[in-house]
Amino acid sequence: MPPVPPPRTYRVKSFGCQMNVYDGERMAELLGQQGIAPAADGEQADLVVLNTCHIRERAAEKVYSDIGRLAKEWGRGDGSAPLIAVAGCVAQAEGEEIMKRAPSVSMVVGPQAYHRLPAMLADAVQGKRSVDTDMPAETKFDVLPARRKVGPSAFLTVQEGCDKFCTYCVVPYTRGAEVSRSFNSLIDEAEKLVDAGAREITLLGQNVNAWRDGDGRGLERLIEALAVLPGLARIRYTTSHPNDMTQGLIAAHRDVEKLMPFLHLPVQAGNDRVLKAMNRSHSVASYLAVLDKVRAARPDIALSGDFIVGFPGETDAEFADTIKLVEAVGYSQCFSFKYSPRPGTPAATMPDQVAPAVMDERLQRLQAALNVSQLAFNQASVGRRCAVLVERKGKLAGQWLGKTPWLQSAHFSGEVAIGDLVEVELVSAGANSLAARLV
Ligand code: SAH
Ligand code: SF4
Ligand code: F3S
Repeated sequence: MPPVPPPRTYRVKSFGCQMNVYDGERMAELLGQQGIAPAADGEQADLVVLNTCHIRERAAEKVYSDIGRLAKEWGRGDGSAPLIAVAGCVAQAEGEEIMKRAPSVSMVVGPQAYHRLPAMLADAVQGKRSVDTDMPAETKFDVLPARRKVGPSAFLTVQEGCDKFCTYCVVPYTRGAEVSRSFNSLIDEAEKLVDAGAREITLLGQNVNAWRDGDGRGLERLIEALAVLPGLARIRYTTSHPNDMTQGLIAAHRDVEKLMPFLHLPVQAGNDRVLKAMNRSHSVASYLAVLDKVRAARPDIALSGDFIVGFPGETDAEFADTIKLVEAVGYSQCFSFKYSPRPGTPAATMPDQVAPAVMDERLQRLQAALNVSQLAFNQASVGRRCAVLVERKGKLAGQWLGKTPWLQSAHFSGEVAIGDLVEVELVSAGANSLAARLV
């Protein structure tokens, strides 16, 4: 590639899960430290970072079309192509392949190596392309710059990677083994987030409830320590695995007032044979038993989950068990996906792959059931009084948007500011949001 002038502006676009959002923020801070400024809205950028997701085929394939499109849309002011970096889980999974398929890309960097972006950028400016998909022992968190300004609700990655190896999933390959960040570095980062404007912190991990302190204590220890930070009003965590839902963490839902009554606990399917084939290592009954304990600790808890329809071999009757489970639990919100075969995972080569039309039909039925459940949950909250954290302006003049303790979106009008915790009454409900009135 020909040498180019050093970039003055950047744009980072993140796809996929909240951990990618967090990584995207940290990469932006790193570029800021290099003296590169964020491109203003609608303006072109000298450097484009695509922070990608590999979880499903559509997401992964989209990267290649995005590279071409964004190179054009976000090109440099003089009409030349921007420098392009591909980061995230597609970078990790397909590093060299991206270099081959996309000659306009000059940097490919995995999720555990992005603190090395400045050095790669120095090469790229000289016309040298590079790939870094190492999972270095030195942790990126030790060398990343301090947090800058954040919104009222901030993310904090506490744990990365996964040792569970569900047979359909790429995460153990793209993010590596389960690693917990140290207690002290997390308290330090949380304090900085609060100083930078956060009122709510969501602790993140591919299996966040697998977080362990050096002395073996679990996530509740971190939650308890964060709860005493003045200025921090709310704590959340996501995503959890049913098998890591310990008694201590469940008790925190009873004992720690700042821990919000919301739990995202994916189950994936409602049939034991399917769960076994998925290598989920929990059954429907053991999952329900966890939910019972959580509800005993915190009766108003809102429950959420993830579902996959059309896992190889899933029969109509087995799928019907998923609908039964949804009806039994009464979720407040959920994500549901069609199974997507991922290269290198055991399920991709299992017999009896389910036909796309069957998956479509099952997804529709599941989403209809989830909608009923969600609407019922929201309608049952009408009349409740609660605090809402004001996060942004709504579409209508004078309207504000925020979240209830149960992670419902609420909209309302009145004299408030972003970052305020205001008391409201919930007055009417749809499947995806609630109208509220200040009290
Ligand atoms: N660690 C989390 C989930 C991470 S991935 C957990 O185990 O709960 C987020 C969601 O993507 C998963 O819960 C699953 O529902 C979905 N997913 C993962 N791999 C998938 C695949 N191959 N096809 C379709 N959905 C998938
Ligand atoms: Fe993927 Fe399973 Fe790990 Fe979740 S627990 S990240 S679904 S392998
Ligand atoms: Fe996607 Fe990687 Fe997150 S595959 S869901 S960005 S961990």
